[in-house]
Amino acid sequence: MDRLYTKSLDIAYVDRMIVEDLNLSIPAGKITALVGANGSGKSTILKTMARLMKPVKGSVFLDGESIHRQSTKEVAKQLAILPQNPTAPEGLTVSELVSYGRFPHQKGFGSLSKEDKHIVQWAIEVTGMKDFYDRPVDQLSGGQRQRAWIAMALAQQTDILFLDEPTTFLDMAHQLEVLKLLQKLNEEEHRTVIMVVHDLNHATRYAHHMVAIKRGSVVAEGTPQQVMTKDVLRKVFGIEADIITDPRIGVPLCIPFELATGDVAVAAMAESGRKIDCERETAGMREKEMVSSAR
Ligand SMILES: Nc1ncnc2c1ncn2[C@@H]1O[C@H](COP(=O)(O)OP(=O)(O)OP(=O)(O)O)[C@@H](O)[C@H]1O
Ligand SMILES: [Mg+2]
Repeated sequence: MDRLYTKSLDIAYVDRMIVEDLNLSIPAGKITALVGANGSGKSTILKTMARLMKPVKGSVFLDGESIHRQSTKEVAKQLAILPQNPTAPEGLTVSELVSYGRFPHQKGFGSLSKEDKHIVQWAIEVTGMKDFYDRPVDQLSGGQRQRAWIAMALAQQTDILFLDEPTTFLDMAHQLEVLKLLQKLNEEEHRTVIMVVHDLNHATRYAHHMVAIKRGSVVAEGTPQQVMTKDVLRKVFGIEADIITDPRIGVPLCIPFELATGDVAVAAMAESGRKIDCERETAGMREKEMVSSAR
């Protein structure tokens, strides 16, 4: 049994059900990539698994106990989350933000210990944020800000790391730096990483396990080879793609070349709010799109 799993999870915003009966198990000591179209429920699932949202029904189990029955501090010692759009209080500096990551480990309202300071320093350095130590977070570029938040999550020094689109806003070199850092933490320190990524080729290169989500449900899960198939891409993203093998490490890579047509593609498009190309539209497709978006 994995350390972290969900059991019959229903998640809703007010009365709008987003996820129903989700049973998802996260392999310990591995990197898991959650993929899916915009609006499919990835962030909602991540937030619930990291205890930022409460499910309507069901539970998230960590080491055999429901995380919603554990205290915030207890859970924060086990898992850290980088949400999709984090915001920092105005004027908060990078070092102050990263120091917040040490909060779960502090006793009472004590100041940072020598070890805490050392870890904060380490997190700032490995994310390449040393030059921005005293800079207010709200005065950084999108990519710098993203790295400051990643540093905060790393400073929490948890066994489990959730990251919602950690490479968004980053240039190609910084994307690779962050992914390689996560890979290193996984390989050397056996940290469990669960990340949402839109770049499917990053998912197959860096994740051991992939989960494809559609309308809050798991459509496919398994190794990159099992999940990155033409059929899954058509179903989940409504795209036609060639799958080739990465000549370096043998994982599958996708080269999208066309929007898919047909029922499955229409459903995928409607979910992510994409408009259907008028020339390819048929009366039947239009009807189905309207039904799907009214959900
Ligand atoms: N705070 C909210 N209140 C109401 N509905 C919400 C809220 N946040 C998200 N939703 C809805 O829940 C559904 C799932 O959203 P979620 O953010 O989990 O998608 P996602 O898969 O992370 O998408 P993206 O790839 O765009 O980040 C969407 O239909 C979205 O509009
Ligand atoms: Mg999201």
